[in-house]
Amino acid sequence: MSSAAASPSLSPKLQSEVNRRRTFAIISHPDAGKTTLTEKFLLYGGALQLAGSVTARKSQRATASDWMELEKKRGISVSSTVLQFEYHDCVINLLDTPGHKDFSEDTYRVLTAVDAAVMVIDAGKGIESQTQKLFEVCRQRGIPIFTFINKMDRPARDPLELMDEIERVLSLHAYAVNWPLGDGKAFCGVFDRIDSLVHTYERTSHGSSRAPVAVHGAKDDSLRNMLDPDLYQRFSDEIEMLDGAGATFDLPQILDGELTPVFFGSAANNFGVDMLLDAFLKYAPPPSDHQVGEKTIHPAQPDFSGFIFKIQANLDPKHRDRLAFIRICSGKFERDMNVIHTRTGRKLRLSSSHKLFGRERETVDEAYAGDVVGIVGHGDFQIGDTLAQDPDLQYQEIPRFCPEHFAWLHSTSSAQTKRYREGLDQLLQEGVVQSFYMRDNAQRLPLLAAVGPLQFEVVQARLESEYGAETRLEITSYEAVRWLPKETTVASLSTAVMPSGITFVSDAADQPALLFPDSWALKYFTEKNPTIPLSTSPPK
Ligand code: G4P
Repeated sequence: MSSAAASPSLSPKLQSEVNRRRTFAIISHPDAGKTTLTEKFLLYGGALQLAGSVTARKSQRATASDWMELEKKRGISVSSTVLQFEYHDCVINLLDTPGHKDFSEDTYRVLTAVDAAVMVIDAGKGIESQTQKLFEVCRQRGIPIFTFINKMDRPARDPLELMDEIERVLSLHAYAVNWPLGDGKAFCGVFDRIDSLVHTYERTSHGSSRAPVAVHGAKDDSLRNMLDPDLYQRFSDEIEMLDGAGATFDLPQILDGELTPVFFGSAANNFGVDMLLDAFLKYAPPPSDHQVGEKTIHPAQPDFSGFIFKIQANLDPKHRDRLAFIRICSGKFERDMNVIHTRTGRKLRLSSSHKLFGRERETVDEAYAGDVVGIVGHGDFQIGDTLAQDPDLQYQEIPRFCPEHFAWLHSTSSAQTKRYREGLDQLLQEGVVQSFYMRDNAQRLPLLAAVGPLQFEVVQARLESEYGAETRLEITSYEAVRWLPKETTVASLSTAVMPSGITFVSDAADQPALLFPDSWALKYFTEKNPTIPLSTSPPK
């Protein structure tokens, strides 16, 4: 990734809009504090008067729709929301990633639309499985990752040990930008190593307003008098030790995703949140170039372009429609502008465009690279599609994941069959799960395929609540799918050595693939048929 440097052919107005944008996601294991930190960013960003609104949403969900019941029941967020707010002249686009334990394609797609990530770690638990998976996706994209070690107000693991764990488990260099003063009840502030000042905070009622902060020099009497002598001694020893060892603050390494700046704090109490947000805005990159084949797309070039990273129907029961979320990559978006849907070559007028704040929407008249807009009412949009003024531009940002779980979904009532088909078609178009079709199945019943089994439950819950269609899930014993070359036919497979249980299918785009009952069959097939190439993604 290169940063958005000014160039004579680019519009200075666009350039300045690009430079003030920061588009990021918060990644974490469930319960580490992602929702709380989101809420506190909004509080500090002035977008919320009193913190509590985001989490309060959890209890309001019953009034929305039943598939949100699923979120409530499981305490997870199955839909992504986009929050945009301004802070210190920056425009912040915070994309919420679904936080459930299951591996979800949805989360990964959101990460293709961000320029940086904040990784939240529970100070008592250290790096957990989901954090690690999400981190790996960010690493593959080479985006900078800022680490927030949360819940320091609870008994925490040794900060040095936590730093070491980041280095060891994630193979990522870590630089502590601040250092905690104590943990648990004794936690009272952090030492900012960049300007060598200690920030001590006061707790507020339920952390619902900004924590009052006092600033001291590390050797000031005011600090020494405030702290328990043992804590002061430990703190002085630790910061001396830190200066002598460990990584140094190196911005190019941070921007390359090789070094993570680490911040300690407590989101619930607003301790260290201001420091994290300020440093993030200062050091995180604005939208950068995209390389598409031979072309370099600059965010401040006049031509508009963007890609669809998420489609969601029935986001709000008041508006029963499909919203396609577009990450803008270049140019200026204007309401009613004409663009080309480059996969089909069709010209479109983008009239029904919305900016989102959580589940609220408002009409958007203009937007710039880094922003996300929701477009309503285009039935043929698919995830990964490009909208641009250049008809030949096709972004390749969205990865397709290879499913590992396969299931049939049956309508349990013939009276609901129509609703069931309509709902399922819609959800398949949204990309909630993938689908495959048996070659000899005239009715084209889809076999649903997912990376994590929770995705099937989301389909079922949404079919019931949004379309009134009850279903029964039949998990099949298939364990793997591999795509075949485009031209493969039943006849061309007739000479292949086929262990039993392998099924020839097509995906939703009619690409040929094989379903395997287990890893043994896959291995056997690969060994016995070396001339038939198998792929974990569809042929291009
Ligand atoms: P998530 O989105 O990553 O799943 O986590 P979330 O913010 O919902 O936080 C999970 C739990 O951890 C919540 O408690 C939240 O209040 C708590 N929490 C978050 N940050 C801190 C912190 O800095 N210190 C402490 N002590 N707790 C923190 P809960 O009991 O599940 O919900 P609630 O009733 O508190 O809302």
